[in-house]
Amino acid sequence: MDIQVDRRSNRVVVYCAGYLDAASAPELEKVVKPLVEPLAKEERLPVTLDLSGVTYMSSAGVRTLLFLFKMAKQRPIERAPESVPLLRLANISPPVQRVLDMTNLLEELARWEAVPAETAPPAAPGHTYRDLLARVRGVFPAPISDPVRDAYFVQSVARGLNRIDDLKTERPYLGERVKLDYDAARATTLPDQMSTLEETIADLADYMQGVFIWGHPHTQENVIPPTTIPSIIGQLFGSIYNPNVIWDEYSHRVSQAEVEVASMCASLVGYDPAKAVGVFTFGGTGTILYGVKLGVEKALPGAFRDGVRQELKVVSSDAGHYSKLSVLGWLGLGTNNLVTVPTDDDNSMGLAELESILRGLLERAEKIACIVATMGTTDAFGIDNLEYIVRLRDRLADEYELPYRPHVHADAVIGWAWAVFNDYDFDANPMGFPSRTLRSLWDARTNIRALGMADSIGVDFHKTGYTPYVSSLFLCKDRSDLNLITRDTALMPYLFQFGNYHPGVFTLETSRSGGAILSALANLKLLGQEGYRALLGHIVSMAEVLRAKLEEAPHACLVNDYNYGPVTLFRVYPDGVEAKAAYREESTRPELADQLRAHNDYNRRVFDVLHRQMESGEGMALSLTDQYRVTPYGEPILALKSFVMSPFVDEAAMNHLITCIEQARKDERRKI
Ligand SMILES: Cc1ncc(COP(=O)(O)O)c(C=O)c1O
Repeated sequence: MDIQVDRRSNRVVVYCAGYLDAASAPELEKVVKPLVEPLAKEERLPVTLDLSGVTYMSSAGVRTLLFLFKMAKQRPIERAPESVPLLRLANISPPVQRVLDMTNLLEELARWEAVPAETAPPAAPGHTYRDLLARVRGVFPAPISDPVRDAYFVQSVARGLNRIDDLKTERPYLGERVKLDYDAARATTLPDQMSTLEETIADLADYMQGVFIWGHPHTQENVIPPTTIPSIIGQLFGSIYNPNVIWDEYSHRVSQAEVEVASMCASLVGYDPAKAVGVFTFGGTGTILYGVKLGVEKALPGAFRDGVRQELKVVSSDAGHYSKLSVLGWLGLGTNNLVTVPTDDDNSMGLAELESILRGLLERAEKIACIVATMGTTDAFGIDNLEYIVRLRDRLADEYELPYRPHVHADAVIGWAWAVFNDYDFDANPMGFPSRTLRSLWDARTNIRALGMADSIGVDFHKTGYTPYVSSLFLCKDRSDLNLITRDTALMPYLFQFGNYHPGVFTLETSRSGGAILSALANLKLLGQEGYRALLGHIVSMAEVLRAKLEEAPHACLVNDYNYGPVTLFRVYPDGVEAKAAYREESTRPELADQLRAHNDYNRRVFDVLHRQMESGEGMALSLTDQYRVTPYGEPILALKSFVMSPFVDEAAMNHLITCIEQARKDERRKI
């Protein structure tokens, strides 16, 4: 008989093959006895006798098994609870099974394995597994229609929302901005016992203390939107039923929703929806990751399989988002391979500089995986001239006879929504936008209209689409590009046996939230083109109100003067300084670097006062950028930032902002 012993960390498996008879039984006993005998010193582990290879068992074999089981029963296992048998049989072969059946031995052996009732610990009242199972079931929505339990779920949601509503005041955040205690947070451990659903919801609601209300007219922090009611419900549906859009088997019509959203966006930006494809991913960063990855595969065919074994460059503007660096780092390209193009005054990529940089790379025979055009920069709403970039790429690819075409990805996670103005009649202005707004919208539209020329586009609904985090769409002009990153279905044998939608063969994520898709679909259907036009038109109008006021204010100057989105960057100056002239001089003349730095500090102090005003509930939630851009002589320019996102912002709120700024300047003066 062949006996093999396989020792693992949590068990010993004894594989037996051949005849288990009078000749071989002592051999088996010799191997197994030390593993189960009471006197053995070594630590006990559960032992499994794998009998799959035993082709015959005689009565001597039966006797040996009984002997070993009897012995094992007397010996507790040190590393496992008593309920775990020390010895058990596995993979019983048909000849052995027949013998065990004949002798009723299986039952006998099972008896040896059973835990004696008297040794089981006494059950804790209310905390037995069965008691708790009933409570555990109660914390889930009822899986089968049950009006009482369904109503309880709805009530629980309503109760949670009521608690949060109770935290709303006049202030731009919920409840109080309590002092945060991270030391206490780090000392937290998993509770031993269950809490009630009600306690847990109340506890959770308390964690919302101090969270900004993005829809509040006094919140102008960043490109973070308030979320519409249907988009919240879309996420909620996704949360309750948890469709996984890796495959239509796991998400059914939600898969269709993804196709619908992708098609709507494709036609919005000027792609052919029949050729384009779109997949949701984990954020704006994820959309750039997809874009750059496609570029890598184009420049270095087979990199998906063989890895990146050659330097590849990614080109983008110095105002582009830092997430590109994450992408380069995480894709293994190396952050040093980001080539940065300086921006013009309007925060768009300098085109002459771009051409000279691209030519320089190509002359040195460097490979360019991707050019990332930013269509709405984070700080200033700068929009690159995408049409020029794509034409330049094509011209240079032909001129240098490249065997590939550098991928052009449009990082339009902020700017995409302006595509709703692509066919707005700016002459007739049927929506009656004020003239400053009209100029701004037209200006943005001029470059956004070229989105359809990019090879791929990033769209964030959780930014200018007004959905909850995270809802990002990667749109690809030519669906065949995705073949470059498609895995072999043989690697996923448990998936895709049927159905017609298998995005999981190329998506980075395996778990893909349906809620993200439903919330995006909800807003596209809810708002349509006209709703988005009204919303974006309004936030731009309010930013224009602020800009008009800042233009008139002697102590302030706009610093993103040529960008016409909802974000305004500005600096304020102490009394006695003519702000516009001072900024012009200090941002261009190196000998005024000290003055620029002093005014940077001044603006930071004013911001601190503004922040305190906000925390006390009186002020506005604004933000600050340490380095809106760098002067030609290399000094960072700090700026205050108002990012209007809320449809509830009105002229009164913008007036209040000016009052708060003046107050902050006054407080700062007093301090001096
Ligand atoms: C222009 C731009 N691109 C990319 C990103 C990254 O997006 P996310 O934060 O969703 O990953 C941002 C974030 O603000 C951004 O402003």
